[in-house]
Amino acid sequence: MSDNEKKPFERLPKTVKPEHYVLYLKPDLNNFTFDGETEIHVKVLTATTEIVVNAMELNLKSVAFTPKGGIATPAKVTLCVEEETAILSFATPIEPCLGKLFFSFSGELHDNMRGFYRSKYTSPSGEARHVAVTQFQAIDARRCFPCWDEPAVKATFDISLCVPHDRVALSNMPVASEEVRGNERLLKFERTPIMSTYLVAVVVGDFDFIEDTTRDGIKVRVYTPVGKKEQGKFALQVATEVLPYYTDYFEVKYPLPKIDLVAIPDFAAGAMENWGLVTYRELCLLVDPDNTTTDRKQKIAHTVGHELAHQWFGNLVTMEWWTHLWLNEGYATFVESMCVNDMFPEYEILNQFVTKSVIVGLQDDALRNSHAIEVPICHPSEIDEIFDDISYNKGASILRMLHKFIGDEAFRKGMKSYLTKHEYGNAETEDLWAALQDSSEKPVKEVMSTWTNKMGFPLITVSSKQIGNSRELTLSQKRFCASADMKDDPSMWMVPISLSTSADPTKDSHNFVLSGPTQIVTIDNINDGDFVKVNTGTFGFYRTFYPIEIINQMIPAITSKQLPPLDRLGILDDVFSLVQAGHMASTEGLKLMSTYAEYEDDCTVWKNLCSWITKLNSLFNYADECKMPFLAYARSILRKISEKLGWDAIENESHMDTLLRARIIEALVECEDEKTIKEAKTRFEAHRNGTKILPADLRLPVYRAVFIDADASLFEEIVKMHRSADLHEEKHRISFAMGYMKDPELLQKALDFAMSDDVRKQDTIYVISFIAFSKEGLNLTWAYLTKHWQMFLDKFGGVWLITMLVRKVTEKFASVEAADEADKFFADKPISGVKRNIRMGLETARLNAAWLSRDRAMIAEWLSEELARIANRATNKM
Ligand code: BES
Ligand code: ZN
Repeated sequence: MSDNEKKPFERLPKTVKPEHYVLYLKPDLNNFTFDGETEIHVKVLTATTEIVVNAMELNLKSVAFTPKGGIATPAKVTLCVEEETAILSFATPIEPCLGKLFFSFSGELHDNMRGFYRSKYTSPSGEARHVAVTQFQAIDARRCFPCWDEPAVKATFDISLCVPHDRVALSNMPVASEEVRGNERLLKFERTPIMSTYLVAVVVGDFDFIEDTTRDGIKVRVYTPVGKKEQGKFALQVATEVLPYYTDYFEVKYPLPKIDLVAIPDFAAGAMENWGLVTYRELCLLVDPDNTTTDRKQKIAHTVGHELAHQWFGNLVTMEWWTHLWLNEGYATFVESMCVNDMFPEYEILNQFVTKSVIVGLQDDALRNSHAIEVPICHPSEIDEIFDDISYNKGASILRMLHKFIGDEAFRKGMKSYLTKHEYGNAETEDLWAALQDSSEKPVKEVMSTWTNKMGFPLITVSSKQIGNSRELTLSQKRFCASADMKDDPSMWMVPISLSTSADPTKDSHNFVLSGPTQIVTIDNINDGDFVKVNTGTFGFYRTFYPIEIINQMIPAITSKQLPPLDRLGILDDVFSLVQAGHMASTEGLKLMSTYAEYEDDCTVWKNLCSWITKLNSLFNYADECKMPFLAYARSILRKISEKLGWDAIENESHMDTLLRARIIEALVECEDEKTIKEAKTRFEAHRNGTKILPADLRLPVYRAVFIDADASLFEEIVKMHRSADLHEEKHRISFAMGYMKDPELLQKALDFAMSDDVRKQDTIYVISFIAFSKEGLNLTWAYLTKHWQMFLDKFGGVWLITMLVRKVTEKFASVEAADEADKFFADKPISGVKRNIRMGLETARLNAAWLSRDRAMIAEWLSEELARIANRATNKM
């Protein structure tokens, strides 16, 4: 059946409502099956002859309905695979009543990372063992037990597990009672609060744990692989502090008595916020002091902070339907930064937020194939695709914009009233705006609905006129699109605008809301040469387009760093985005890049600059005349900062310098800087023979440098390194670096390696997308993907990871032919669940092609002149 012929999706009928589940599960870790029983206490609200529940790939052994005080009636059961439901039909209507619905069932513990599944690991004695674990978000609880698998249908749960006597067994709540039955244990867990099915969780396996108690008495445990409990220390410290941080921030208590954080060897997402039992990829939880990078540690703090934020935002108050997923994900992404910032001020998270979220959100939302934050979900297969940068990063960015607009006090007050009003219930975007509007007495609804109801964001075009000692600034708005031609789009936003001036570039001089197409603002007491900058601190989710004279007025404040980092970064990123869209010439962007490189030393700004180097480098894979000159140019602009930072960490240096060093060396390797590659090879040699172990922070760039000219024997060694690496992070790094190999034969081998048993299924998709780094790698990856498309669908269909793969591969093309070919390939393939990502990826590919055809001649000419100037300068210095 084609996607169009499918029956329109309908939510479950509301005639019967579950109130409580008694759920028993017994996993068989030898035969990879499970048995289960559930008794669901329901309320029949309207007379009906049918009860419809969700069930998928379950073998329903017996089903009966017992009205309170009545006699059990067996039901006829029809399974609807398409709808993922089981319909129970009764001969006579069931009248409104209370009753119990009983199911006994069995299923398989697949290795597909969804539902109730198995994950493999090796015990310290070298034995292959399995964990049985659940991952239900978004719609996979139905693969474990029959249920009303919708976020708004909440109930309480009494969960019990029958497990081998020597395994750890966990669920959302603490154990209430335990009974030994021969070689097995029956564990009954305390009753959960009323909650959504997607948050129910169980884990059965071998683990060690470490524990602590928060200052408000909540038990926190981190479960690690056996023998590695030390690696849970960092996450434990973060969780123990973060939980009461949120309790204080929201003034709403964490409602469960405990929280467990568990590292799962095979896990599709990074982490999952199951209430009281958060599950993680090992990569996102475990810290090995000798082998974990500073960057990874920071990411772990974020992941812990993010999942704990969901305990309130998502678990206590849940989105009414997946359309409002952003309420969960956008919000958690926003507050994770607040708590990490509180705990680790040296991370400068509030600055990093702009590169991590604002810019990422703006990039995606500039595409025509973006979507509104509130997105209609027409079929469950579309849900996975919206765990994307719009829900997370645009969502988080507009909350940051709002937080500034109404201030922290009103924000907190509003959050508290939102959480209290909807606790143990569900909410929609409107409910959040209502609470924040009340607390702030500002037009939150009116302003914010323009950001959540439609896709895209505005481009604010600025022009100015000096009149005596006043400046008349004209601001106008129009939807910004990565392909420039948005002439007929009538979208208007209510845009909170802030301005700063040369008098004090660190402070807002003006704040107002631009609500129409154009507005004139007069700035008094300003000299002719002074600048007015729009979007102070890059708090607004929009792009600003200044005439080049205004940018030039700001240059002295950029080079002297009187303008704060986020403003410097905003200017740079806006200019490059305008270049990318064809509003400005590429040479303007390159000139600005040169200016920044001369003076800049802020990590966040540099990270942005490096991301544009990477983007251009990848673009020039399709423009030979630009490729080598660009690499030479990029090397020259990286020189100064790289000399400042050197290779070795200085004692007590800042966190940000440590991050920056790794990024700059990585950029130099990417630009094939001979000196850097040579040094990397020397250091790799010393690392390999054990004379001097490479610090974790330098390993990725060093591996990349060394792998560039890998031959067959080095490849063998790389595979061995991967095999012998114990820490997941190290394996990740090694496979990540493989994409830098140049030899096509080895890249091909790397693709096979990605699909082999050496690489866990959770990582395959990542390894493959790394291989698409170079043009050669991209072509090979594309050929591989198309050849094995059905296999990819079979292996990863329905798992969120595949959406990432199609996007990451298709968006690297920079030719219309390649995009057309890809379009043609997907035209007759079943692609539900990845459709939007294919469209976004191919849109980017066509934009890349357009950018090149527009500017490549100009870029090549400019680069050759610039390189001559650089050479001249060097000779003059001698
Ligand atoms: N709820 C998600 C996990 C998830 C993602 C489930 C996709 C189903 C599909 C979780 O809260 C999350 O957002 N995890 C992030 C990590 C976070 C630090 C951004 C992830 O998995 O990458
Ligand atoms: Zn999340």
